[in-house]
Amino acid sequence: MSSGGATPEPRGPVTVWWATRRPLADLDLSPLSREERARVDRLGTQPARERSALARALVRAALADALGGAPGSFQVGWQRGPALLGHAASSISISLSHSADRVVVALTEGAAVGVDIEPAGRGERLRPTVVERITTPDERRELAALGLPARERAAIQLWTAKEAVLKATREGLETEPHTVEILGLPEVTQLSAHARRPELVGACHVSALALDPDYVGSLAQLSASAPPVVERDADAGRLLS
Ligand SMILES: CC(C)(COP(=O)(O)OP(=O)(O)OC[C@H]1O[C@@H](n2cnc3c(N)ncnc32)[C@H](O)[C@@H]1OP(=O)(O)O)[C@@H](O)C(=O)NCCC(=O)NCCS
Repeated sequence: MSSGGATPEPRGPVTVWWATRRPLADLDLSPLSREERARVDRLGTQPARERSALARALVRAALADALGGAPGSFQVGWQRGPALLGHAASSISISLSHSADRVVVALTEGAAVGVDIEPAGRGERLRPTVVERITTPDERRELAALGLPARERAAIQLWTAKEAVLKATREGLETEPHTVEILGLPEVTQLSAHARRPELVGACHVSALALDPDYVGSLAQLSASAPPVVERDADAGRLLS
């Protein structure tokens, strides 16, 4: 990803697919590559294997939905998150997150995306020392203005927002979350500071996901204008059948 030049504009909405973890026997694994299956098999617990397999199947199904073709026909790279390789539509951006019983995949064309989810109840378990470590003083002021339990939910929302931004830039947690500032959540908001990538201020939008009230989630897109976000339930349709 380039850090200079004009900010890419989204060419359409960001589609965010939500799917529920299921036994491996209930999932068609045939579209997965040998490497993807090996990655699933290496994981140490059954829930982790189920999330990983579902994530890989969902990425492929989302690509097939967006571009046409069979889910198994795409070449997908997995360095620092999923990426469509060797395809004419190389401006496709994909991001994924898995947590507890949920997997989400965000896909769009034209500007990099990042997505992150966490179970909503996890906010209660975020210790004040952790919140202190991952937030800026202005973010802490916003959190302090809220009563409980809104503050706990806002704290975990903020955490997903930071991870979504750091996935959109592909930095991941190599960048300290407290060096990235996002104010005004849960409205669609702009990144207000990024120590390592200051050019992203005004060129990165963050919004809250809402499809499943038991989870909080954020979508970040590196674009000058706020992207329309369409959340879809992969369990309800025929996406994974
Ligand atoms: C990716 C990361 C930002 C968030 O992960 P998380 O909240 O724990 O887990 P999520 O399920 O939301 O996201 C994981 C997915 O993000 C994607 N991802 C991993 N690194 C990424 C990056 N640098 N940029 C974008 N996406 C990334 C992957 O597809 C991964 O799923 P997979 O392992 O099944 O392929 C963080 O774990 C990270 O930076 N990891 C890389 C560094 C690392 O592994 N450190 C280990 C420290 S213990």
